[in-house]
Amino acid sequence: MTSSAEPTGASFKFRLAHLSDPHVGPLPAPRLRDLAGKRMTGYWNWRSGRRLIHDMEMLSRILADIEAEAPDHIALTGDLVNIGLPAEFPLALKAVTRLGDAERVSIIPGNHDAYVRNSMPAMVRHFAPYMRGDDLSEVAFPYMRIRGRIALIGVSSAIPTGFFLASGAVGPSQTTRLRGMLEAAGQAGFVRVVMIHHPPLKAEHFGRGLRDHASFERALREAGAELVIHGHNHRQSVTMLERRNGPPTPIVGVASASAVPGTQGHRAAWHLFDIAIDENTLRIDMTTRGSAPDGAIVELETRTILDLVAPG
Ligand SMILES: [Fe+2]
Ligand SMILES: [Fe+2]
Repeated sequence: MTSSAEPTGASFKFRLAHLSDPHVGPLPAPRLRDLAGKRMTGYWNWRSGRRLIHDMEMLSRILADIEAEAPDHIALTGDLVNIGLPAEFPLALKAVTRLGDAERVSIIPGNHDAYVRNSMPAMVRHFAPYMRGDDLSEVAFPYMRIRGRIALIGVSSAIPTGFFLASGAVGPSQTTRLRGMLEAAGQAGFVRVVMIHHPPLKAEHFGRGLRDHASFERALREAGAELVIHGHNHRQSVTMLERRNGPPTPIVGVASASAVPGTQGHRAAWHLFDIAIDENTLRIDMTTRGSAPDGAIVELETRTILDLVAPG
């Protein structure tokens, strides 16, 4: 079988879809003992507003739009659920299986998937095949998957936090392994795409960002990556991370895939990355498709985020 995910000669094209933060609902009726601690405030938050922000009808339209564009691969960067109840994950899995199997879909967790201590084990039970490296039988972060000439690297920044906090952390051992993966994949000539839930740069708001962003950013700067994609902020953002010994790395955040209210940058959207490799060039074009004010899914913007010519 030939697909555009297989290299032909010197040129290679790959279409990568990115969506994030679907916050799949509705919440199953929780048992009282499930609502101890942080889940109590989370449940109240969901009842009092979050369920109106994240609309499953909108998510369904976004998923249909992704299907229609037939990408080679789909990355989902976390916050699949709301308060990390084990009973939430089967509902999220239903939405994900609509996109494809674990060969075609790569997932990493977000802070809402790791809401309290028993949340992540429940996510792993349902999503393990989507969060594993090639040929690995266990879930371990970071993981690496090779698809054609693309190396997809999944990092977990999801940790349980205290009340009213939504911060994340990668940790020193994951950062060290990430650096090794980036260096090896870079030397082998792969286009490196890093997936992480939290924006890997200094946060604008206290309690919401990546605690160890400085060491993570250093690993990115020194080892290099061609693209970093993230969610968490529920709005679109594009930042170029400048590097001293190599081309800059685009860091791209996407809006929530189910958000209905808000301005253009906040409303439900997804990104389609057209990655084109030729003999000595690499180009990444990004198309944003998302909700128009009337709720229809339309193309909102296309721009080139990386256009490189190899030296020599
Ligand atoms: Fe989120
Ligand atoms: Fe988040």
